[in-house]
Amino acid sequence: MMSTADTVAFDVVDGIAWVRFNRPEKRNCMSPTLNRRMMEVLDELEFREDVGVLVLSGEGTAWSAGMDLKEYFRETEAKGLGATRQAQRESYGWWRRLRWYQKPTIAMVNGWCFGGGYGPLYSCDLAIAAEEAKFGLSEINWGILPGGGATKVVVDLIPMRDAMYHAMTGEAIDGKKAAEWRLVNEAVPLAQLKDRVTEIAKVLLEKNPVALKATKDAVRRVKEMTYDNAEDFLVRAQEAANSFDNNGRKEGIRQFIDEKSYKPGLGAYKRG
Ligand code: ACO
Repeated sequence: MMSTADTVAFDVVDGIAWVRFNRPEKRNCMSPTLNRRMMEVLDELEFREDVGVLVLSGEGTAWSAGMDLKEYFRETEAKGLGATRQAQRESYGWWRRLRWYQKPTIAMVNGWCFGGGYGPLYSCDLAIAAEEAKFGLSEINWGILPGGGATKVVVDLIPMRDAMYHAMTGEAIDGKKAAEWRLVNEAVPLAQLKDRVTEIAKVLLEKNPVALKATKDAVRRVKEMTYDNAEDFLVRAQEAANSFDNNGRKEGIRQFIDEKSYKPGLGAYKRG
């Protein structure tokens, strides 16, 4: 019997927290145990000084085969409504936590990604897939609608006709198609996946972390706002960020205007 701690693996290397769904023998499907553990791991890593970027991937051949049909649905439902609602809170809870995470996040989709997996996929700020990965809203194939936010995820990320086709047919698509549909940023051969994600993480590690958090939140928030609301929100969000980080942006201005050591249009300033 696997202990709770074993359902999620992680290590921190050179500023990057590599977090992995760790039930490869169950294709990393999400059980209540895994969901509970993931929240603990996110908690532990969020404000660590040695963590600048979090990457979420899966051990073995899967990223995540979605919710655990046995432990999350059948066994939980057998315990009644209270247990069902608790299991929902625990899974939605860590996905929500990840959506508004302090550090930038990258989904590194190494393999199968089904159904409930779209929750954490959407939670990550960026998503890079293996061309060989397979994505599917397989809910329809076993007789439910894509819940747990999955319908919202595809409608938010991909065009309506593709979202409808994807949800109604339950046909899986590969990483290349997922990139074409913009479900992920890009797809690369599996053999190059970790290198490409490391490269992107390094770009993020060079940026001002206060600005990164403000930026990622702003992108998610303004999507649902009118232009005027967004304009107002962004002024206030920047002013709030200034109070956390007075020196960063001043240094950014100084190195460009006085020192002429970089151009903000072409790269980031040097952080002290
Ligand atoms: N829930 C529970 N158990 C699962 C799940 C899941 N979502 N996915 C895989 N497993 C288990 C299998 O039952 C099997 O267990 P066993 O070894 O005890 O028999 C083990 O993981 C390995 O699975 P296989 O099917 O043998 O692996 P394979 O590599 O051949 O296929 C695939 C992988 C395609 C991902 C397949 O496992 C699959 O279709 N899984 C279900 C995907 C899915 O539809 N998920 C639910 C989405 S809907 C939602 O999340 C709300």
